[in-house]
Amino acid sequence: MKYTSQRVAYWFFATCMLLFSLQIVYGFIMGFAHMGMDGLHDLIPFNAARATHTNLLVVWLLTGFMGASYFIIPDESGRELYSTRLAYIQLISLVLVGVTAIAGFHMNWWEGRKFLEIPRPLDYVVVANVLLFLFNIGMTVLRSNKYTATGIVLYVGLVSAALLYLPGMIYFSNQTVDSYFRWWVVHLWVEGVWELIMGSILAYLLIKLTGVDREVVEKWLYVIVGLTFLSGILGTGHHYYFIGTPSYWLWIGGIFSALEPLAFLGMALFAIAMYRRSGRNHPNKVALYWTMGCAIMSFVGAGFLGFAHTLPQVNIYTHGTLVTAMHGHLAFWGAYAMIVLAVISYTMPLMTGRKLWNTMPALLAFWLSNIGMLGMTAAFAVAGITQVYLERRLGMDFLAVQKEVEVHFLGLVLAAALFTAGIVLYIYTFIKFGKPTAELQENIDTEDYPVRESHAALGGA
Ligand code: HEM
Ligand code: HEM
Ligand SMILES: [Fe+2]
Repeated sequence: MKYTSQRVAYWFFATCMLLFSLQIVYGFIMGFAHMGMDGLHDLIPFNAARATHTNLLVVWLLTGFMGASYFIIPDESGRELYSTRLAYIQLISLVLVGVTAIAGFHMNWWEGRKFLEIPRPLDYVVVANVLLFLFNIGMTVLRSNKYTATGIVLYVGLVSAALLYLPGMIYFSNQTVDSYFRWWVVHLWVEGVWELIMGSILAYLLIKLTGVDREVVEKWLYVIVGLTFLSGILGTGHHYYFIGTPSYWLWIGGIFSALEPLAFLGMALFAIAMYRRSGRNHPNKVALYWTMGCAIMSFVGAGFLGFAHTLPQVNIYTHGTLVTAMHGHLAFWGAYAMIVLAVISYTMPLMTGRKLWNTMPALLAFWLSNIGMLGMTAAFAVAGITQVYLERRLGMDFLAVQKEVEVHFLGLVLAAALFTAGIVLYIYTFIKFGKPTAELQENIDTEDYPVRESHAALGGA
């Protein structure tokens, strides 16, 4: 770590750990409710638990992206952050909006639009908050004289994510038009601009962890950005099949969204190729696990399982069922949760000066959470396919079918317990690192890691 201001990232990451824990609690509340154990119903009805679970997810991921940016942008721009004070103010206001929104959901103050439940007045505070963040990061970039493709793609991703929040804030009285623009936010975030954020963080981590030349890594990054835009923009059509939009979307959405896995496949192949060319024996193996894991699991969850229900011929049956939840979990986990956990694993030793890499709890955290999440995905898949068959093929009543699939939620809760054990170990390791300290930080020389023997023998660097 070159600049002391990069340390603000720590507080963003600590907030992530807190919000992530709370998200999991709400996951369990819903898991049990699906099993018929809905004792908390009067206090926390399913809709409030669901909105809290998914919004906490989005907020902790955004907090993670912000923390990652506060670490990466000064490094890539070669200067201190424009203002650490602004960064702290921004974090505090973000937490306040989050807490208000969550409390509101429990008092029935919400918009009822999946993923965009935050009430309109709070949206304006979110906008102000994000502008503050972009200003701080933007000034850091502008005041430097060093521009890298990684830094620019990250910044463009962040600015575009902010712009794409706006279509969700316009008021429409027509349900179809409202749904149409809701997808500009939800789809164009996760299958568009967030991919730029993910791709650039992935590139940054691969440059640092594998030691492969920046030019090589950044060439791949351009390819990924191209593939993302080529498929993702018109791929929005895979949400327009059955909401009242013209039928040409069946073709456009089907064809372009079927191409979307290419961007995720590109990222996975890219990470594997960089790993194989790796000339650096970086001691932080756990960070490399999370980085490679992210590239691979995002392809499985987003690319493969997204493709599984993206064609209109399939989606007509699976639309809005637990098959969607199956894909939603592994996609969000693989692509966005794992990239945030990768960046935290990479930066914590650098910020705190404590070489807690590759400890048993840290390695177990990786394996248990990933195996647990794969188990959860399988449980949702079994419940979802059963639901599709009984409800959409046999025409059984929605609630009768929910009763039939209750048993599969026992599987979900068990897998989720394994997942949670992994996350508890991750947070344990995070706490063990402690807060950043200037004295210990000098223990770690970030660039001077041993060159792999095979490479050294070949004269490589
Ligand atoms: C990391 C990237 C991705 C994430 C985080 C993600 C997440 C999600 C989530 C949460 C939903 C439910 C949205 C809602 O109903 O409001 C959803 C729906 C959907 N996703 Fe993805 N997704 C990703 C990538 C993809 C890709 C690449 C494809 C296609 C190849 C895809 C295909 C679909 C389809 C077809 C639906 C609609 C399901 C339905 O009709 O109920 N997704 N996705
Ligand atoms: C202990 C862990 C968890 C449990 C028990 C759990 C359980 C659930 C349940 C029961 C639902 C509602 C499904 C429905 O609508 O009926 C849900 C929704 C959702 N959860 Fe989780 N969850 C957990 C962790 C996570 C994590 C770690 C992520 C992301 C990385 C996540 C992402 C989501 C998403 C995106 C949805 C909405 C899916 C959709 O739109 O269909 N969950 N979760
Ligand atoms: Fe989509």
